[in-house]
Amino acid sequence: MMNSATAKRYDSPEEYQLDLPRILVVDDEEPTLRTLSKILALNGNDSVLVKNTTEARVQLQSRTFDLLLCDVNMPGESGLELLREVRSDSPQTAVIMLTGMDSPDLASEALHLGAYGYMLKPFKPNELIINISSALRRRELEIKNSVYHTELERSIREKTREIEQALRKLRKSMSGIIKAMSLAVESRDSYTAGHQHRVSQLSSAIALEMGLSDERVEGIRLAGIVHDLGKIAVPAEILSKPGKITDFEYEIIKNHTRVGYDILKDIEFPWPIADIVLHHHERLNGSGYPFGLEGENILVGARIIAVADVVEAMASHRPYRPALGLYIALEEVKKNRGILYDADVADACLSLFNNKKFSF
Ligand SMILES: [Fe+2]
Repeated sequence: MMNSATAKRYDSPEEYQLDLPRILVVDDEEPTLRTLSKILALNGNDSVLVKNTTEARVQLQSRTFDLLLCDVNMPGESGLELLREVRSDSPQTAVIMLTGMDSPDLASEALHLGAYGYMLKPFKPNELIINISSALRRRELEIKNSVYHTELERSIREKTREIEQALRKLRKSMSGIIKAMSLAVESRDSYTAGHQHRVSQLSSAIALEMGLSDERVEGIRLAGIVHDLGKIAVPAEILSKPGKITDFEYEIIKNHTRVGYDILKDIEFPWPIADIVLHHHERLNGSGYPFGLEGENILVGARIIAVADVVEAMASHRPYRPALGLYIALEEVKKNRGILYDADVADACLSLFNNKKFSF
């Protein structure tokens, strides 16, 4: 086998154009070699003449040829074997097969193996020169085409890397902006500081436990961080009021889902964050707000945040009551599984705390 490492590589079409065509001729008949030598010399080609495939391989290992003119029938080994080897090891070398036998099957096999041409002996000098020129021209176009494709692929890889980098930066800043929004609303209500962050943590863990894609989990994580953004419109006295709130105050609080939606609806997120925020107080049996949506009419992200929200809120201290504790919170989820809360979401949440040692 030829050493493919010695084969010349063309990194640019300019490099190819600087070279004069180098031709290797392989033919066991002395008279044919002499004729070819004269024709090629008159045509100004740089040629090397050898009598068999063994000598041809020695030449092919020592330098790169632009064209191989190769007899088919030679004692020992057929020229077709050399053709097969050259086309696989140095595809940049064009090959024209020469034969004294007019056989369509042989011609077809040679072309199938990658020969650029197939010539019957004896041939006229002009016929040979035309065949050589067209083979070299085709080879040049193939090299240019290959250089173009390599360059194109490199450029596509580079652009893709740049786009991915820009996307990562964009996502990072988007995440930062969402976090800032979350801190803004929590700064007005010290009792619920960290609530959205913890709901976001539990929501994304539930989404993962349910087998949602990483992409959807990320959307739910971000929606969790801002799910109570609308509370920015609720007076701080109501948010931090100890004891029971009035029906009127409760209506103001309930409006936070719509306010959150209005703030977020014009931001083009890759996820329906505004809608998830709008739906996060809907309940499976239609008893929630603001629309009284039921079952699958409520977005999955909102069904997940609803459960995480209840668990976090019940497990934490509130201005109007002390913390009820995690046990009571999980009992609430168990009791209303499939009634208020999506059964799959409830199961994933319970499994996280009971089997996976999840903690806020
Ligand atoms: Fe809420």
